[in-house]
Amino acid sequence: MSFKPEYRLILKYADEPGYTVDIDCYLRHGGYQVLKKALTLDPAFIVQEVKKSGLRGRGGAGFPTGVKWGFINHEKNTKPVYLLCNADESEPGTFKDRQIIYKDPHQLIEGMIISAYANRAHLGYIYIRGEFAKGAKILEQALAEARERNFLGKNILGSGYDLEIYVFRGAGAYICGEETGLIESLEGKRAYPRIKPPYFPAVLGLYMCPTIVNNVETLCHVKHIVDMGGEAFAKIGTPNNTGTRIWCVSGDVNRPGYYEYPCGAITFGELIYGVCGGIRNGNKLKAVIPGGSSAKVLRADIKYKIPRKKADGSTEIVEMGLEDIPLDFDTVAATGSMSGSGGIIVMDDTRDMVECLRNIAEFYAHESCGQCTPCREGSLWMKKILDRICRGNGRKEDSKLLLDVANHIAGRTICAFGEACSWPVQSFVELFEEEFVAKAKKEDSMEILEPVER
Ligand code: NAI
Ligand code: SF4
Repeated sequence: MSFKPEYRLILKYADEPGYTVDIDCYLRHGGYQVLKKALTLDPAFIVQEVKKSGLRGRGGAGFPTGVKWGFINHEKNTKPVYLLCNADESEPGTFKDRQIIYKDPHQLIEGMIISAYANRAHLGYIYIRGEFAKGAKILEQALAEARERNFLGKNILGSGYDLEIYVFRGAGAYICGEETGLIESLEGKRAYPRIKPPYFPAVLGLYMCPTIVNNVETLCHVKHIVDMGGEAFAKIGTPNNTGTRIWCVSGDVNRPGYYEYPCGAITFGELIYGVCGGIRNGNKLKAVIPGGSSAKVLRADIKYKIPRKKADGSTEIVEMGLEDIPLDFDTVAATGSMSGSGGIIVMDDTRDMVECLRNIAEFYAHESCGQCTPCREGSLWMKKILDRICRGNGRKEDSKLLLDVANHIAGRTICAFGEACSWPVQSFVELFEEEFVAKAKKEDSMEILEPVER
């Protein structure tokens, strides 16, 4: 399969030889010029441009950024507004934000200052995953440099606008990346997610004030939107799926890594066989998890029904194999899964799907915050059932039991973690039931699951 060259917008300089994280290097590459432009614009105009650009959040949910920003009613609001950068990247299979932080931190800071200005925030935090100790240090240093040059602090570049940004290191828990858990953690509490609504951060966020929470990659895009204008940005990618995305590919490919393309510009097949050099050891593609471990798994040997717009504006349903599906938010969502955080996990035909699911289930059982019963208990029970099957003591009804537990979690919890731990179980069992049945073949197993202990 042919190799499609990357189109790098966010990672343009990240891997360029000689490109360093210091501010002088960034300035030599045109850094902070867009900020200068932004500070001459009306904040409301920037919000409009971001709306026009069609930018969707790159953290996983794909919510339109301009719409989120528009939730703050600046005419009526009397409270301070906060901007939080979610750099807690913890979704298994996802490793894009850390590339930006470790290789081009000033791009993030410039995007953040512009975003804070547009949202009339005077205080921002970068909430970085606890394990990214070096990333936190790089950001601290970059913020100090930006402060020294008056890109941060009081009266930025003589504009009359004041802003401070601080780095806050996370506590090393997956749930700290859930935006309301992140806010609780930032407030000094245990990262228990809040119920949304009413606690959509844009309305009631940090210290119950309007708060915008955006992902690292999303904030970087804002710089490019202000630079080129919302309309020009919207021309990259496809309608409703604008801009570029950084896809992180891991698993059974010859060249795992991160690759940036306009949304919809590349198919799973082109990415796996062209860009990533195909499946390792000449094996066959079996399945793909398209958007981090919480996304539903897709099977390589079945067809998906994908709605496609025709030239006359009507919609037709086209049957597509996994390899032909273009990578964008809407097309991947049409399969019943999601492009999520952009973490594409590739599995070849040597993989035991029960073992793969057990691995995922172990992660979620460990990371549940324990606040709601279905998630706390259910995630552990699913892991225990899978452990039992993998030990060779499975029962013939175990796949049905797994589905039953998963179906009683999804949609019944405070945060999206409930879906995150159920969707892999539902999709693996539904799509690969034969493997679960074959592995859990013992009809007379006497193994009793021990009560859940934490
Ligand atoms: P969500 O769909 O509930 O919300 C998306 C965003 O839109 C949030 O910022 C939310 O506050 C805002 N929003 C939605 N409706 C709103 C309304 N009516 N008013 C005001 N604001 C509104 O999704 P959520 O729970 O924020 O994210 C889930 C996704 O996160 C998952 O799909 C998963 O892909 C991703 N994820 C990413 C991780 C990573 O490491 N990047 C880790 C774990 C999950
Ligand atoms: Fe915590 Fe799970 Fe409930 Fe989310 S769904 S609040 S992670 S117990």
